[in-house]
Amino acid sequence: MDYKNLLIKKQDDVAILSFNRPKVLNALNTDVLIELEQAIEEIKEDETIDVLIITGEGKAFVAGADISEMRDKTAEEGRNFGELGARIFRKIELMEKPVIAAVNGFALGGGCELAMSCDIRIAGEKAKFGQPEVGLGITPGFAGTQRLPRLVGLAKAKELIFTGDIIDAKEAEKIGLVNKVVSGEELMDEALKMAKKIASNGQIAVKYSKAAINRGINCDFDTANEIEKDLFGLCFATEDQKEGMTAFLEKRKPMFKKK
Ligand code: HXC
Repeated sequence: MDYKNLLIKKQDDVAILSFNRPKVLNALNTDVLIELEQAIEEIKEDETIDVLIITGEGKAFVAGADISEMRDKTAEEGRNFGELGARIFRKIELMEKPVIAAVNGFALGGGCELAMSCDIRIAGEKAKFGQPEVGLGITPGFAGTQRLPRLVGLAKAKELIFTGDIIDAKEAEKIGLVNKVVSGEELMDEALKMAKKIASNGQIAVKYSKAAINRGINCDFDTANEIEKDLFGLCFATEDQKEGMTAFLEKRKPMFKKK
């Protein structure tokens, strides 16, 4: 499918979704969010794709929700807009395929919230992160108040959200908001390298691991342990498990079947 505001490319079993409104630093308006949801649905259904990378064209990843669209919204419209983005970001978080954010530049407000809904964040050295919403008279609205404290802890999340401070990639790495920082030129290569490594593993095991982490993290420990145990058990019903372990014992690389 062709999108007005997104570019979608494929490299082997990896899809790259890039926001393409560089003139407004890839700000998210309703049209972009609707396209994003369609693209996510399409990628979810595509059995030839194992891993998704999300990035942005130009100097921004995503500089937030579109302020020009939000300015005149009523309370109800504001709530609906928040709900739309939060629902799509949750879909990204819960989709079976791992998602890597390759954060090339500004990831502010809704952009930071989008990056946080991805499984892994790799930042280019020029990337900037922050939740500057309170400076606009709003709270974060795409679940930033929930994901940021889970990633960086309560104290740092409150500091970032209450001050609206923008931090650089190194600081984001220090507080655990990003997995690693690389040069701008290396960013896509690094993201692709990680995506391909993930894609070379048993995909059912990757999918179950993601589900165990995402479902377990919001439960008490014993319930989470049960979730892991069930998914672990299910792995033994897969050809991947037989192949992975046989390959180890035969001292060769596993040949996991693609769907
Ligand atoms: C609409 C935006 C935008 C945004 C940038 N632009 N961010 N338009 N919404 N979030 C537009 C600018 O108006 C400008 O348009 C063009 O993009 C280039 O931006 P500049 O400001 O000229 O670039 P620069 O000087 O490099 O500054 C970059 C910047 C700044 C520091 C990132 O643009 C900025 O502070 N942007 C807003 C960041 C922000 O507050 N984000 C959070 C939004 S609230 P023109 O027409 O002048 O060229 C949010 C809520 C999420 O995300 C939850 C909602 C429910």
